[in-house]
Amino acid sequence: MTDRSRIAHAGLAKKIMSAEAAAALIAPGSIVGMSGFTGSGYPKAVPQALAKRIEAAHAAGDKFRVSIWTGASTGPELDGALAKVDGIELRLPYNSDPACREKINRGEMQYLDMHLSQVAPMAWEGFLGDLDTAVIEISAIRADGTLVPSSSVGNNKTWLDRARRVILEVNSWQNAALDGMHDIYYGTALPPNRVPIPLTKPDDRIGEPHFRCDPEKIIAIVETDAPDRNAPFEAPDETAHAIAGHLLEFFGHEVKKGRLPQSLLPLQSGVGNVANAVLGGLVKGPFHDLTAFTEVMQDGMLDLLESGRLRMASATAMSLSPDAAAALNRDMARFRDKIILRPQEISNHPELIRRLGCLAMNGAIEADIYGNINSTHLMGSRIMNGIGGSGDFARNAFISIFMMPSIKKGGKISAIVPHASHVDHITQDVQVIVTDQGLADLRGLAPKQRAKVIMEKCAHPTFRPALEDYFNRALKSSYGLQTPVILPEALSWHQRFVETGSMLAK
Ligand code: COA
Repeated sequence: MTDRSRIAHAGLAKKIMSAEAAAALIAPGSIVGMSGFTGSGYPKAVPQALAKRIEAAHAAGDKFRVSIWTGASTGPELDGALAKVDGIELRLPYNSDPACREKINRGEMQYLDMHLSQVAPMAWEGFLGDLDTAVIEISAIRADGTLVPSSSVGNNKTWLDRARRVILEVNSWQNAALDGMHDIYYGTALPPNRVPIPLTKPDDRIGEPHFRCDPEKIIAIVETDAPDRNAPFEAPDETAHAIAGHLLEFFGHEVKKGRLPQSLLPLQSGVGNVANAVLGGLVKGPFHDLTAFTEVMQDGMLDLLESGRLRMASATAMSLSPDAAAALNRDMARFRDKIILRPQEISNHPELIRRLGCLAMNGAIEADIYGNINSTHLMGSRIMNGIGGSGDFARNAFISIFMMPSIKKGGKISAIVPHASHVDHITQDVQVIVTDQGLADLRGLAPKQRAKVIMEKCAHPTFRPALEDYFNRALKSSYGLQTPVILPEALSWHQRFVETGSMLAK
């Protein structure tokens, strides 16, 4: 059931049409900026109608692909639907859709994996090309023509400003009480006209609650009533609990030493089960009056808010399981004053992350013994998801923490390796590594000291002796001894996995 009261602007109400009619306005070869950040706030009808159109064009022997820009990952109705019909020429930024991933890894789709804070500025700078059409989900159109955002903000402000033409999806599934939760900042500019962003606390509101958009640019409005789709979280397992336990103990230690306040510093938390376990641990821990300056609001954040331990959270998107989304929807008005959703160029802005002193907690694929982190590629070449906001936060955080199970795939893969097969976060951007085995505090340590601590605290016992053996031999044979390496052997664990399905030596 759609809700006509969501479109209060008389002129715009005349532009209501079907998703098929709106999709027919998108030209082959065009660049389309879509809303969406994790499984929230993405358009649900037009991308599917576009996918059908593309499928029909391909069946008739016509070439039809578009380039897709989003906030980050979206839902299967967007990325999945378009990838399955081979409709995407290039996609940016972060992706976690399996159909897209497969296309990218088969070399059938270009993927531009960018720092999430840099997407909007680069679009303004013009490096990404000309944005033809924006397809943006909103929750309402106000009488004055301003737009009420839905459950994510992402790059929507920039797409609305930059696109030649705009298609809106007004989704009445989105709670009307979302109105007032958003803070859309219109003060960004390109150099040499940039000025400081006037945010000094996570709960500062520096913008407006609604998007501006020239009504003349709006060529179609499609009404929808479909839920956001985020995958449910698995309950944290023993490994996730162990990682969370080490990290919470570390925070307690830092408070005791006087290096962190009892309310800690604004939390940034990646998504996933480990992150959720850490947030779950904070519900029971000794810290009060917490704040979050982060990218996404996941279930654990909502629980923390509910518990009263977390005073407020600033993010760019909801990333809630279906149960948590339903719980939030039932109680939106109560949460509205505790959650601020901002454009991703603000939620992930390096200036703000550095000023606030965020505690950045992100997952990783692997770390090498010197503390370089791979967040994106399996065996050096196969993309998993993308860098997302991890680089924005890691480089600028007060403490940059990476968390991962010490072994993966039933013990066939070690997360601690002699040499990272791909590097997203250089050792200087990594202060703490935590696995289920323990926590390595790398602050103030030089490379060889880091290696010893990482192997001792983080490596799984199955792989630790082989790592130590490699390091000791590297000390004897390396070309230089600042960061000892045995060049022909550095990636041999990965090669063994590719050849045999296991990093374990026979
Ligand atoms: N080699 C091969 N596969 C690996 C691997 C490795 N070293 N490490 C992880 N994987 C696989 C896992 O087996 C799992 O595969 P499956 O889904 O087939 O079981 C998958 O990658 C996810 O790994 P998991 O250990 O379950 O961790 P996760 O869900 O916490 O995800 C990242 C880890 C790194 C993929 C995820 O955190 C990510 O995409 N990070 C980059 C973006 C980011 O940090 N965003 C937050 C910033 S706000």
